[in-house]
Amino acid sequence: MPAETARLDRAAAAKLRMVCGFARRANRGRRPGPGKTGGACDNGRRTPRTALRMTARPRLSGPPVIRAMTPADLPAVLAVQRACYPPEMNEAAAVLRERLAQAPDFAWIAAVDREIRAYLVGYPSRLGKVTPLGGGFEPPATPDCLYLHDLAVAPAAGGRGLGSHLLRHALAVRPGWPVALVCVQQALPFWQRAGFVERRLADPVQAARLAGYPGPARYMVRPAG
Ligand SMILES: CC(C)(COP(=O)(O)OP(=O)(O)OC[C@H]1O[C@@H](n2cnc3c(N)ncnc32)[C@H](O)[C@@H]1OP(=O)(O)O)[C@@H](O)C(=O)NCCC(=O)NCCS
Repeated sequence: MPAETARLDRAAAAKLRMVCGFARRANRGRRPGPGKTGGACDNGRRTPRTALRMTARPRLSGPPVIRAMTPADLPAVLAVQRACYPPEMNEAAAVLRERLAQAPDFAWIAAVDREIRAYLVGYPSRLGKVTPLGGGFEPPATPDCLYLHDLAVAPAAGGRGLGSHLLRHALAVRPGWPVALVCVQQALPFWQRAGFVERRLADPVQAARLAGYPGPARYMVRPAG
């Protein structure tokens, strides 16, 4: 091998070792999530998907700010919703606005670098009751659980603890209460990890509401305590 080519190869190898070292240090202590690899350098190959993840995900500098949602947040909240769900699962702006007016103490956003990246909305409800997709909240006179209607984290900020932060925040608002929700898309392991278990709905009206959610939808409850 000509001396110049060998020198360039050695320089490239040193650069690769340095980049892999950074990636390993950044990922230390993190378990790979579903569909995630152990990092772009774990097997020496970079697929288009891992390359996209490395470039498309903004770094989250600093801890997220969790605060109550306000009507002014709705455009950003709708943008997160659009990024997280297929069109048939997107709920109208007017519905979101009405729910926020009904239960302002149970709607939060998570912001990183002053940008809204995630939200969680819920309200006090009754066990066994499901909010239909696109329907209004129906706060009962005597609630017996916290119902979480929607938790969504923008994909670019996913897998970095924002969902867990928001969930912990909501649980702290009604400590000791059971918590119920409808689990959709690929969120089942997330909710199971947080202590939620699937529960059958005996009431046919509520079962029909659950069936109104596209894809596999499960009614889940996290017991009191
Ligand atoms: C489900 C969702 C809210 C998770 O939010 P997130 O911020 O990415 O989750 P976190 O980073 O807090 O993850 C917490 C833990 O759950 C794990 N996890 C998250 N999503 C997971 C999934 N789909 N499958 C398996 N594990 C998952 C993470 O690896 C992490 O585990 P760790 O603490 O051991 O590292 C997010 O993926 C999302 O918004 N999805 C699209 C919208 C949606 O479907 N919402 C759920 C409606 S029921």
